[in-house]
Amino acid sequence: MKTRITELFGIQHPIIQGGMHYVGFAELAAAVSNAGGLGIITGLTQRTPELLAEEIRRCREMTDKPFGVNLTFLPTVSSPDYPGYIKAILDGGIKAVETAGNNPQKWLPALHEAGVKVIHKCTSVRHALKAESIGCDAVSVDGFECGGHPGEDDVPNFILLPRAAEELKIPFVASGGMADGRSLVAAMALGAEGMNMGTRFIATKEAPVHENVKRAIVEASELDTRLVMRSLRNTERVLKNDAVDRLIQKEKDLGANLKFEDIIEEVAGVYPKIMREGAMDAGAWSCGMVAGLIHDVPTVKELIDRIMAEAEAIIGQRLARSIVA
Ligand SMILES: Cc1cc2nc3c(=O)[nH]c(=O)nc-3n(C[C@H](O)[C@H](O)[C@H](O)COP(=O)(O)O)c2cc1C
Repeated sequence: MKTRITELFGIQHPIIQGGMHYVGFAELAAAVSNAGGLGIITGLTQRTPELLAEEIRRCREMTDKPFGVNLTFLPTVSSPDYPGYIKAILDGGIKAVETAGNNPQKWLPALHEAGVKVIHKCTSVRHALKAESIGCDAVSVDGFECGGHPGEDDVPNFILLPRAAEELKIPFVASGGMADGRSLVAAMALGAEGMNMGTRFIATKEAPVHENVKRAIVEASELDTRLVMRSLRNTERVLKNDAVDRLIQKEKDLGANLKFEDIIEEVAGVYPKIMREGAMDAGAWSCGMVAGLIHDVPTVKELIDRIMAEAEAIIGQRLARSIVA
Protein backbone atom coordinates (compact mmCIF):
# COMPACT_ATOMS: atom_id res chain seq x y z
CA MET A 1 0.00 0.00 0.00
CA LYS A 2 1.14 3.51 -0.73
CA THR A 3 -0.16 6.50 1.25
CA ARG A 4 1.19 9.89 2.28
CA ILE A 5 2.35 8.19 5.51
CA THR A 6 4.41 5.51 3.74
CA GLU A 7 5.91 8.23 1.54
CA LEU A 8 6.66 10.54 4.47
CA PHE A 9 8.55 7.92 6.47
CA GLY A 10 9.93 5.82 3.60
CA ILE A 11 8.23 2.63 4.79
CA GLN A 12 6.56 -0.25 2.94
CA HIS A 13 3.36 -0.62 5.00
CA PRO A 14 1.27 2.15 6.63
CA ILE A 15 1.73 0.68 10.11
CA ILE A 16 3.44 2.44 13.02
CA GLN A 17 4.35 1.05 16.43
CA GLY A 18 3.60 3.74 19.01
CA GLY A 19 6.06 4.61 21.74
CA MET A 20 5.49 2.46 24.83
CA HIS A 21 7.19 2.87 28.18
CA TYR A 22 9.39 -0.15 29.00
CA VAL A 23 8.20 -1.92 25.82
CA GLY A 24 9.62 0.23 23.02
CA PHE A 25 13.20 -1.00 23.14
CA ALA A 26 15.46 -1.60 20.14
CA GLU A 27 14.33 -5.25 19.76
CA LEU A 28 10.69 -4.32 19.08
CA ALA A 29 11.42 -1.19 17.02
CA ALA A 30 13.83 -3.12 14.78
CA ALA A 31 11.39 -6.01 14.34
CA VAL A 32 8.62 -3.63 13.23
CA SER A 33 10.89 -1.76 10.85
CA ASN A 34 12.31 -4.99 9.42
CA ALA A 35 8.74 -6.13 8.74
CA GLY A 36 8.08 -2.96 6.69
CA GLY A 37 6.41 -0.75 9.33
CA LEU A 38 7.84 2.10 11.39
CA GLY A 39 9.29 0.90 14.69
CA ILE A 40 9.69 3.43 17.47
CA ILE A 41 12.07 3.50 20.45
CA THR A 42 10.55 5.08 23.56
CA GLY A 43 12.90 7.94 24.41
CA LEU A 44 12.10 8.48 28.08
CA THR A 45 12.38 4.79 28.98
CA GLN A 46 16.11 5.43 28.54
CA ARG A 47 16.97 7.28 31.73
CA THR A 48 19.57 9.58 30.14
CA PRO A 49 20.27 10.95 26.65
CA GLU A 50 23.47 8.85 26.60
CA LEU A 51 21.44 5.67 27.13
CA LEU A 52 19.06 6.74 24.35
CA ALA A 53 22.06 7.25 22.03
CA GLU A 54 23.18 3.72 22.89
CA GLU A 55 19.69 2.30 22.28
CA ILE A 56 19.61 3.99 18.85
CA ARG A 57 23.00 2.41 18.07
CA ARG A 58 21.72 -1.01 19.14
CA CYS A 59 18.64 -0.64 16.94
CA ARG A 60 20.76 0.42 13.98
CA GLU A 61 22.69 -2.86 14.34
CA MET A 62 19.42 -4.80 14.10
CA THR A 63 17.91 -3.02 11.10
CA ASP A 64 18.93 -0.94 8.12
CA LYS A 65 15.33 0.27 7.69
CA PRO A 66 14.02 3.62 9.00
CA PHE A 67 12.91 3.70 12.64
CA GLY A 68 11.86 6.50 14.95
CA VAL A 69 12.00 7.75 18.53
CA ASN A 70 9.06 8.73 20.74
CA LEU A 71 9.52 11.79 22.88
CA THR A 72 6.75 12.34 25.41
CA PHE A 73 6.56 15.86 26.81
CA LEU A 74 5.37 15.38 30.37
CA PRO A 75 3.34 17.96 32.26
CA THR A 76 5.73 17.68 35.23
CA VAL A 77 7.58 20.55 36.87
CA SER A 78 11.01 18.89 36.96
CA SER A 79 11.30 18.03 33.31
CA PRO A 80 13.67 15.45 31.79
CA ASP A 81 16.75 16.64 29.85
CA TYR A 82 14.82 17.28 26.62
CA PRO A 83 17.66 19.20 24.89
CA GLY A 84 19.90 16.19 25.59
CA TYR A 85 17.34 13.73 24.19
CA ILE A 86 16.88 15.88 21.06
CA LYS A 87 20.65 15.93 20.57
CA ALA A 88 20.81 12.13 20.90
CA ILE A 89 18.06 11.85 18.27
CA LEU A 90 19.80 14.21 15.85
CA ASP A 91 23.29 12.74 16.42
CA GLY A 92 21.82 9.26 15.97
CA GLY A 93 20.60 10.16 12.47
CA ILE A 94 16.94 9.51 13.33
CA LYS A 95 14.53 10.77 10.65
CA ALA A 96 11.17 10.15 12.38
CA VAL A 97 10.04 11.42 15.76
CA GLU A 98 6.73 10.70 17.43
CA THR A 99 5.95 13.45 19.91
CA ALA A 100 3.23 13.19 22.53
CA GLY A 101 1.91 15.11 25.50
CA ASN A 102 2.67 18.81 25.61
CA ASN A 103 3.12 21.05 22.56
CA PRO A 104 6.36 20.14 20.68
CA GLN A 105 6.67 23.54 18.92
CA LYS A 106 9.89 24.54 20.66
CA TRP A 107 11.74 21.53 19.21
CA LEU A 108 10.42 21.60 15.64
CA PRO A 109 13.00 23.97 14.06
CA ALA A 110 15.98 21.83 15.16
CA LEU A 111 14.24 18.61 14.09
CA HIS A 112 13.12 19.97 10.72
CA GLU A 113 16.50 21.48 9.99
CA ALA A 114 17.97 17.98 10.31
CA GLY A 115 15.31 16.54 7.97
CA VAL A 116 13.37 14.79 10.74
CA LYS A 117 9.65 14.18 10.10
CA VAL A 118 7.49 14.79 13.17
CA ILE A 119 4.24 12.98 13.89
CA HIS A 120 2.42 14.33 16.95
CA LYS A 121 0.00 12.18 18.89
CA CYS A 122 -3.31 13.92 19.65
CA THR A 123 -6.57 12.90 21.27
CA SER A 124 -8.77 15.66 19.82
CA VAL A 125 -9.37 17.50 16.56
CA ARG A 126 -8.42 20.82 18.15
CA HIS A 127 -5.03 19.49 19.23
CA ALA A 128 -4.50 17.92 15.80
CA LEU A 129 -5.24 21.28 14.15
CA LYS A 130 -2.81 22.96 16.54
CA ALA A 131 -0.13 20.39 15.60
CA GLU A 132 -0.78 21.13 11.92
CA SER A 133 -0.60 24.89 12.48
CA ILE A 134 2.80 24.73 14.24
CA GLY A 135 4.26 22.67 11.38
CA CYS A 136 4.05 19.00 12.39
CA ASP A 137 4.31 16.75 9.34
CA ALA A 138 1.58 14.31 10.40
CA VAL A 139 -0.56 13.41 13.39
CA SER A 140 -1.51 10.21 15.13
CA VAL A 141 -5.14 10.50 16.20
CA ASP A 142 -5.66 8.55 19.43
CA GLY A 143 -9.31 7.66 20.07
CA PHE A 144 -11.04 6.97 23.39
CA GLU A 145 -10.38 3.23 22.94
CA CYS A 146 -6.62 3.62 23.18
CA GLY A 147 -4.27 2.19 25.75
CA GLY A 148 -2.44 4.91 27.64
CA HIS A 149 -3.74 8.47 27.80
CA PRO A 150 -6.95 9.01 25.80
CA GLY A 151 -7.37 12.64 26.92
CA GLU A 152 -10.52 13.97 28.55
CA ASP A 153 -13.00 14.24 25.66
CA ASP A 154 -13.97 10.55 25.35
CA VAL A 155 -14.59 10.61 21.60
CA PRO A 156 -14.17 7.16 20.01
CA ASN A 157 -12.46 6.67 16.67
CA PHE A 158 -15.66 6.15 14.67
CA ILE A 159 -16.34 9.85 15.22
CA LEU A 160 -12.85 11.22 15.86
CA LEU A 161 -11.23 9.95 12.65
CA PRO A 162 -13.80 11.30 10.16
CA ARG A 163 -13.85 14.57 12.14
CA ALA A 164 -10.05 14.74 11.79
CA ALA A 165 -10.43 14.01 8.06
CA GLU A 166 -12.89 16.90 7.72
CA GLU A 167 -10.45 19.38 9.22
CA LEU A 168 -6.85 18.32 8.60
CA LYS A 169 -4.66 18.88 5.55
CA ILE A 170 -1.64 16.94 6.80
CA PRO A 171 -1.87 13.12 6.76
CA PHE A 172 -2.86 11.24 9.90
CA VAL A 173 -2.86 7.69 11.20
CA ALA A 174 -5.58 6.10 13.31
CA SER A 175 -4.49 5.05 16.77
CA GLY A 176 -6.38 3.24 19.51
CA GLY A 177 -8.22 -0.04 19.01
CA MET A 178 -6.24 -1.06 15.92
CA ALA A 179 -5.40 -4.77 15.69
CA ASP A 180 -5.77 -6.31 12.25
CA GLY A 181 -6.55 -5.90 8.56
CA ARG A 182 -10.13 -4.89 9.37
CA SER A 183 -8.84 -2.05 11.54
CA LEU A 184 -6.55 -0.81 8.77
CA VAL A 185 -9.26 -0.82 6.10
CA ALA A 186 -11.75 0.84 8.47
CA ALA A 187 -9.20 3.48 9.47
CA MET A 188 -8.49 4.25 5.83
CA ALA A 189 -12.21 4.38 4.99
CA LEU A 190 -12.60 6.98 7.73
CA GLY A 191 -9.84 9.14 6.25
CA ALA A 192 -6.63 7.95 7.92
CA GLU A 193 -3.59 7.02 5.81
CA GLY A 194 -2.34 4.29 8.10
CA MET A 195 -2.57 3.03 11.64
CA ASN A 196 -0.62 3.16 14.86
CA MET A 197 -0.74 0.22 17.27
CA GLY A 198 0.38 -0.10 20.86
CA THR A 199 -1.22 -2.96 22.79
CA ARG A 200 -1.26 -5.31 19.76
CA PHE A 201 2.52 -5.04 19.37
CA ILE A 202 3.11 -6.01 23.03
CA ALA A 203 1.65 -9.45 22.34
CA THR A 204 4.34 -10.40 19.81
CA LYS A 205 7.30 -12.74 20.11
CA GLU A 206 9.87 -9.93 19.81
CA ALA A 207 8.32 -7.54 22.36
CA PRO A 208 10.97 -7.52 25.11
CA VAL A 209 8.53 -7.91 28.01
CA HIS A 210 7.77 -10.73 30.45
CA GLU A 211 5.59 -13.58 29.14
CA ASN A 212 3.03 -12.78 31.88
CA VAL A 213 2.31 -9.44 30.18
CA LYS A 214 1.65 -11.09 26.81
CA ARG A 215 -0.53 -13.74 28.48
CA ALA A 216 -2.53 -11.08 30.36
CA ILE A 217 -3.30 -9.30 27.06
CA VAL A 218 -4.33 -12.50 25.29
CA GLU A 219 -6.56 -13.50 28.22
CA ALA A 220 -8.17 -10.07 28.63
CA SER A 221 -11.45 -9.16 26.95
CA GLU A 222 -12.62 -5.77 25.73
CA LEU A 223 -14.33 -5.34 29.12
CA ASP A 224 -11.15 -5.56 31.19
CA THR A 225 -9.67 -2.07 30.96
CA ARG A 226 -10.41 0.79 33.36
CA LEU A 227 -9.93 4.54 33.25
CA VAL A 228 -7.93 5.94 36.15
CA MET A 229 -6.69 9.40 37.23
CA ARG A 230 -9.62 11.23 35.64
CA SER A 231 -9.97 13.62 38.57
CA LEU A 232 -6.32 14.61 38.07
CA ARG A 233 -7.07 15.34 34.39
CA ASN A 234 -4.43 12.76 33.50
CA THR A 235 -6.78 9.96 32.47
CA GLU A 236 -5.11 6.66 31.65
CA ARG A 237 -6.62 3.46 30.26
CA VAL A 238 -5.10 0.50 32.10
CA LEU A 239 -5.68 -3.22 32.49
CA LYS A 240 -7.78 -4.11 35.54
CA ASN A 241 -5.78 -5.77 38.35
CA ASP A 242 -5.54 -5.64 42.17
CA ALA A 243 -3.59 -2.38 42.19
CA VAL A 244 -6.11 -0.76 39.83
CA ASP A 245 -9.01 -1.89 42.05
CA ARG A 246 -7.23 -0.27 45.01
CA LEU A 247 -6.58 2.89 43.03
CA ILE A 248 -10.22 3.17 41.97
CA GLN A 249 -11.34 2.66 45.57
CA LYS A 250 -9.08 5.55 46.66
CA GLU A 251 -10.55 7.69 43.87
CA LYS A 252 -14.06 6.91 45.15
CA ASP A 253 -13.14 7.57 48.77
CA LEU A 254 -11.23 10.81 48.22
CA GLY A 255 -13.23 12.22 45.30
CA ALA A 256 -12.11 15.70 44.28
CA ASN A 257 -9.59 15.74 47.16
CA LEU A 258 -7.47 13.02 45.52
CA LYS A 259 -3.86 14.04 44.98
CA PHE A 260 -1.13 12.30 43.02
CA GLU A 261 0.64 11.42 46.28
CA ASP A 262 -2.37 9.35 47.35
CA ILE A 263 -1.91 6.91 44.47
CA ILE A 264 1.84 7.05 44.06
CA GLU A 265 2.23 3.42 45.15
CA GLU A 266 -0.08 2.25 42.35
CA VAL A 267 1.35 4.38 39.53
CA ALA A 268 4.93 5.53 40.15
CA GLY A 269 7.87 3.41 39.01
CA VAL A 270 5.73 0.32 38.40
CA TYR A 271 6.63 -0.35 34.75
CA PRO A 272 9.94 -2.20 35.30
CA LYS A 273 8.25 -4.51 37.83
CA ILE A 274 5.46 -5.35 35.41
CA MET A 275 7.25 -5.41 32.07
CA ARG A 276 10.53 -7.00 33.21
CA GLU A 277 9.59 -9.09 36.21
CA GLY A 278 6.03 -9.96 35.18
CA ALA A 279 4.61 -8.84 38.55
CA MET A 280 1.18 -8.29 37.07
CA ASP A 281 -0.43 -6.72 40.16
CA ALA A 282 2.45 -4.34 40.90
CA GLY A 283 0.60 -1.30 39.61
CA ALA A 284 -1.47 0.32 36.87
CA TRP A 285 -0.14 -0.23 33.35
CA SER A 286 -1.52 1.05 30.06
CA CYS A 287 -3.54 -1.35 27.95
CA GLY A 288 -6.14 -0.76 25.24
CA MET A 289 -9.67 -2.17 24.87
CA VAL A 290 -8.24 -3.82 21.76
CA ALA A 291 -7.02 -6.60 24.09
CA GLY A 292 -10.42 -8.15 23.30
CA LEU A 293 -9.25 -8.63 19.69
CA ILE A 294 -5.86 -10.11 20.55
CA HIS A 295 -5.85 -13.90 20.68
CA ASP A 296 -2.28 -14.93 19.89
CA VAL A 297 1.41 -14.03 20.14
CA PRO A 298 2.80 -14.06 16.59
CA THR A 299 6.15 -12.72 15.41
CA VAL A 300 5.99 -9.08 14.34
CA LYS A 301 6.50 -10.12 10.71
CA GLU A 302 3.68 -12.68 10.89
CA LEU A 303 1.43 -10.01 12.38
CA ILE A 304 2.21 -7.33 9.81
CA ASP A 305 2.07 -9.73 6.84
CA ARG A 306 -1.27 -11.01 8.10
CA ILE A 307 -2.65 -7.49 8.52
CA MET A 308 -1.63 -6.49 5.01
CA ALA A 309 -2.96 -9.69 3.41
CA GLU A 310 -6.26 -9.34 5.27
CA ALA A 311 -6.60 -5.65 4.39
CA GLU A 312 -5.92 -6.30 0.72
CA ALA A 313 -8.41 -9.18 0.66
CA ILE A 314 -11.12 -7.05 2.30
CA ILE A 315 -10.65 -4.21 -0.18
CA GLY A 316 -10.07 -6.31 -3.30
CA GLN A 317 -12.55 -9.10 -2.63
CA ARG A 318 -15.16 -8.64 0.10
CA LEU A 319 -15.80 -4.93 -0.41
CA ALA A 320 -15.28 -5.02 -4.17
CA ARG A 321 -17.85 -7.83 -4.47
CA SER A 322 -20.45 -5.90 -2.55
CA ILE A 323 -20.60 -3.21 -5.23
CA VAL A 324 -23.53 -3.90 -7.54
CA ALA A 325 -22.82 -2.96 -11.14
C1 LIG B 1 2.11 -0.22 27.88
C2 LIG B 1 1.93 1.05 27.10
C3 LIG B 1 2.81 2.11 27.32
C4 LIG B 1 2.67 3.30 26.60
N1 LIG B 1 3.59 4.30 26.79
C5 LIG B 1 3.52 5.43 26.02
C6 LIG B 1 4.52 6.44 26.13
O1 LIG B 1 5.45 6.35 26.93
N2 LIG B 1 4.40 7.54 25.32
C7 LIG B 1 3.37 7.66 24.42
O2 LIG B 1 3.34 8.65 23.70
N3 LIG B 1 2.42 6.72 24.29
C8 LIG B 1 2.47 5.61 25.07
N4 LIG B 1 1.52 4.63 24.91
C9 LIG B 1 0.44 4.80 23.89
C10 LIG B 1 0.76 4.09 22.56
O3 LIG B 1 1.86 4.66 21.91
C11 LIG B 1 -0.43 4.13 21.59
O4 LIG B 1 -0.77 5.47 21.31
C12 LIG B 1 -1.64 3.40 22.14
O5 LIG B 1 -1.26 2.19 22.74
C13 LIG B 1 -2.63 3.11 21.02
O6 LIG B 1 -3.73 2.40 21.50
P1 LIG B 1 -3.86 0.79 21.43
O7 LIG B 1 -3.14 0.30 22.64
O8 LIG B 1 -5.33 0.56 21.46
O9 LIG B 1 -3.21 0.34 20.15
C14 LIG B 1 1.61 3.45 25.66
C15 LIG B 1 0.72 2.37 25.46
C16 LIG B 1 0.86 1.19 26.16
C17 LIG B 1 -0.12 0.07 25.91
